[in-house]
Amino acid sequence: MRRNLPPNLLEHLKFSTCGLGDSSYAMYNLAIRKLHARLKQLGAQEFVDRAECDEQSPEGQEAFYDSWERLIFDALKKKYSGKVVEIPDNVVLDPIHQITIKQGGFKKYSTELTALERQGSEKKLTTVKVDSLDRMTDPEHFQEVLHVVLSDDTQSLQYAAGDTVSLYPENDPKDVQSFINLQGWNDISDYPLIINCPDHMVPEGGWVKDLTLRSLLQYHLDVASVPPRSFFQMAWHFASDEREMEKLKELGEVEESEQLYNYVNRPRRSILEVIQEFFSLRIPIEQLLEVIPVIKPRLFSICNLQRQGTVELAVAVVEYKTIIRRLRQGLCTSWLKRQKVNNKIVVSINQNNLKIPDTDMVLVGPGTGIAPVRAIVQLNDKMIRDGKAGHKYLLFTGHRYREKDYLFGHEWPHMKGLRVIDSFSRQAGGYVQDTIWKNKDEVARILNNGGGLYLCGSSGKMPTQVRITVEEILKESNNWDTETVKAELLKMEKEKRFIQETW
Ligand SMILES: Cc1cc2nc3c(=O)[nH]c(=O)nc-3n(C[C@H](O)[C@H](O)[C@H](O)COP(=O)(O)OP(=O)(O)OC[C@H]3O[C@@H](n4cnc5c(N)ncnc54)[C@H](O)[C@@H]3O)c2cc1C
Ligand SMILES: NC(=O)c1ccc[n+]([C@@H]2O[C@H](COP(=O)([O-])OP(=O)(O)OC[C@H]3O[C@@H](n4cnc5c(N)ncnc54)[C@H](OP(=O)(O)O)[C@@H]3O)[C@@H](O)[C@H]2O)c1
Repeated sequence: MRRNLPPNLLEHLKFSTCGLGDSSYAMYNLAIRKLHARLKQLGAQEFVDRAECDEQSPEGQEAFYDSWERLIFDALKKKYSGKVVEIPDNVVLDPIHQITIKQGGFKKYSTELTALERQGSEKKLTTVKVDSLDRMTDPEHFQEVLHVVLSDDTQSLQYAAGDTVSLYPENDPKDVQSFINLQGWNDISDYPLIINCPDHMVPEGGWVKDLTLRSLLQYHLDVASVPPRSFFQMAWHFASDEREMEKLKELGEVEESEQLYNYVNRPRRSILEVIQEFFSLRIPIEQLLEVIPVIKPRLFSICNLQRQGTVELAVAVVEYKTIIRRLRQGLCTSWLKRQKVNNKIVVSINQNNLKIPDTDMVLVGPGTGIAPVRAIVQLNDKMIRDGKAGHKYLLFTGHRYREKDYLFGHEWPHMKGLRVIDSFSRQAGGYVQDTIWKNKDEVARILNNGGGLYLCGSSGKMPTQVRITVEEILKESNNWDTETVKAELLKMEKEKRFIQETW
């Protein structure tokens, strides 16, 4: 980044870049573009074409990455032709994680597992109690949304508006037992298990204490996820049936992307289901963590103002049917739904360092995007009630029916400094961008007077459409051309007056 670096600083370097991006964000892959341009500016030479992956594409980031990886390998093979020996296809590399089961002389652990004690976590973990878990949407409404209240006896949870909570989901014990049965591990599943791996390979949140094959499966191995291509690239080595081996190998080939897409992505088949279908597939225990991805924590926006020892969440339960008509459930939200009041779970807080502009604001929060918005509204309300300078907030909500899923709707009339404009998409109310456009004069007044905009909710089309609408409003009200408005919006983003949090 230093301005005075010589332009030939990186002349010796050949490089390529691959960005992992999400095109629903305006600054899509911006970081990698900047890094790429800077490397070139400093004399580095592009080795193969760069790639930009897009999370929004149906095939996910992997398809882009695969093509890029292919380019890299082809170029490397050409460059080092005759100087290196390629590792043959059928050789399985040594695992990075060393897994040992302590059988002889060791006592089995109980099959009643707990995940409350974890080791090796870089994050501060807190054990909280589930105070309540109430359905917020009408029982007849297709989308279940839970209002979850978690409390911490030690009152050590420190957070601010805009922060999120990480939850550490678990597999369903029935799925775990099914996996154990399929792999023939019943005799060894409850003996102590040791994992040695480099520090950076320890999963976020650490390993659970008292590791066994069963607890590894329940808390760490993402057997309910859709297998990535790398799963098949490893798995075929471990099938004993020749036809199954061939099929698994094929699914791991980049040229067979469509087959992989049709077999796993479209029906959203899980790793467990693949293992149920390929009878001869027996994954060696020492290769488990090389083949199956680890479960990642899920983030949820905190939807309340900091109150001692309590965190509130609004959680949309993921449940849908695939093209093969199978019911699919989200890992974390179905686990959360199975929790009972007074259960204890482990969480960590992610500080978002959200700087809420000290100005009037337009707030946009369709669906569960209302969660962090509620915390911001509560903060403003408290400031006004405490006699401190508050601001005027214009909130655009976006739900389906007033009577069925108007999340926190009954609270808005009691909030100071707040005006709410609702849209109910299935009651001819349109989407948030429609109501924003209908109220363009008011939006323009706030934004053109130095006000801010905070947008939160599902990623996909919504954030882009809201952005286009805001661009149009600014264009029209200021008589700006397209380039100016785009530049002004980016400036607002840099000044943290336009804030987007979408997932
Ligand atoms: C910063 C941040 C804040 C968040 N805040 C909240 C919040 O306040 N409230 C909230 O509810 N969520 C929030 N989320 C989302 C949350 O973290 C989880 O991603 C979500 O709850 C799903 O988790 P899961 O494990 O239940 O589902 P998973 O097992 O991870 O499954 C989700 C996947 O299922 C697929 N899927 C979902 N629905 C369908 C469908 N209809 N058709 C086809 N495929 C589908 C999609 O590929 C999706 O990625 C937030 C995410 C982030 C990153
Ligand atoms: N990658 C994914 O597949 C993915 C990502 C995020 C969320 N989800 C699903 O959505 C659920 C959580 O969603 P949520 O409760 O926050 O609600 P939501 O599904 O985001 O919907 C909230 C509101 O936004 C409306 N909406 C739909 N498309 C829109 C658009 N292009 N612009 C503006 N508004 C739009 C919806 O209307 P209509 O429904 O009437 O169109 C609804 O009124 C999860 O359970 C999950 O199943 C899926």
